[in-house]
Amino acid sequence: MNLSNKNICEREKKFLSSIQKLPYCPIAIKNGKGALLYDYDGNEYIDFLSSASSANIGHGNKEIAQAVKNQMDQITQYTIAYFTCESPVLLAEKIINLAPGDNDKKVLYSTTGSESIDAAIKLSKGYTGRNKIISFNGAYHGSTYGSISISAISLNMRKKIGSLLPDVYHFNYPVCIKCPYNKNESECHLECLEEIKNAFQMYLPADEVAAVFFEPIAGDSGIIIPPKRYVKNLYKLCKKNNILFVADEIQQSLGRCGYWFSMEHFNIEPDLIVMGKSLGGGLPLGLVVGKSEIMECLSAPAHAFTLSANTTVCVAALKMLEIFERDNIIEQTKEKGSYLINKLNILKEKYPNIIKDVRGLGLSIGVDLPDKSATKKICYQCIKNGLLLISLGENTLRIQPPLVITKNQIDESTEILENSINDFISGKISDDAYTFINGW
Ligand SMILES: Cc1ncc(COP(=O)(O)O)c(C=O)c1O
Repeated sequence: MNLSNKNICEREKKFLSSIQKLPYCPIAIKNGKGALLYDYDGNEYIDFLSSASSANIGHGNKEIAQAVKNQMDQITQYTIAYFTCESPVLLAEKIINLAPGDNDKKVLYSTTGSESIDAAIKLSKGYTGRNKIISFNGAYHGSTYGSISISAISLNMRKKIGSLLPDVYHFNYPVCIKCPYNKNESECHLECLEEIKNAFQMYLPADEVAAVFFEPIAGDSGIIIPPKRYVKNLYKLCKKNNILFVADEIQQSLGRCGYWFSMEHFNIEPDLIVMGKSLGGGLPLGLVVGKSEIMECLSAPAHAFTLSANTTVCVAALKMLEIFERDNIIEQTKEKGSYLINKLNILKEKYPNIIKDVRGLGLSIGVDLPDKSATKKICYQCIKNGLLLISLGENTLRIQPPLVITKNQIDESTEILENSINDFISGKISDDAYTFINGW
């Protein structure tokens, strides 16, 4: 049978449940190399999504493939629930060395980011003996019952599935570009933090709160970077009340923001850090790293999955970290991030009616367009013209290319974006965009 995008996408519709999909365009990915992707119709794309920030190292990395093959030639995996394998131990040691702070730390593995969030919920409650959790409006922490309970981004994630975890309190994330209190920077008295403090006085006893779950950069709600003083004061509030500060670094760590961990930007050492996505070098892996006393607060098997810390996946992760260090990927990301943000700001100056905001850290960037319709059309046209990207919320383009993207590819990408903006301005973009781009 001749395989094409149409053929594979039609069969996907027939055989896969649609509830795990936020569709954009009927494209079936065939292979990739670095920041480039190829589909079954022979089209080439520059990847601005990195498989939802899970391919920071890029696609088709031969060194990782070889390391995986070497491991699989020996043994694919043996569960660490009962016996011991080398690669999960080496990886835990490596992650502990990279994580911010000098406290004694330990690692707890899962298979996905969502499961690792569940682990952090269990650990926070177990360690503090408290039941309440604070989280934020717009947060995406995952798709298990625990992680859905602390998320607040989509009603579809909650409808018809029964009871979630009780005692979760959602507060406003500091979204300064759309400040809910209508303040500008000079007028801001961290009103969003005051709301938590007020809650502590009125209805939420601080000494019953186990943890604050915080995305250091709010990813899926639009790549929102909170002010440093908000994060520092939130952290202080946690410390004052013996509440654990849990950083969800699943999307923003491993170089994405120009640091190993995005919390380094805020100079804060969280009690627990949750990781996933790019961690497994493209294979499924999640973990929590945190202070040893917290990591040992439950009894086995409080959080054990047969295939977590999979031997081969941990080998892939170790190889990826080796490449990161050897090729200086973190430093390069800072540089490429500034280069790309600068180019986007030039477009913003040129098209002030189309590009409303550009913000980012490293290669985690959000670009706001005027409204949902413009966003769908420009996103659709970019994909048609060879730049694969998605939108977030009503009007944000999500820009998170593989960190190995080259400057030439960045130049090409911004050219495609500019051409798509011009096509939009001259009314050339087909209304097909409304059919294909569903998104969040
Ligand atoms: C910030 C954040 N937390 C948690 C998750 C859930 O991770 P996973 O999809 O690997 O379960 C995601 C995934 O998009 C995420 O972006």
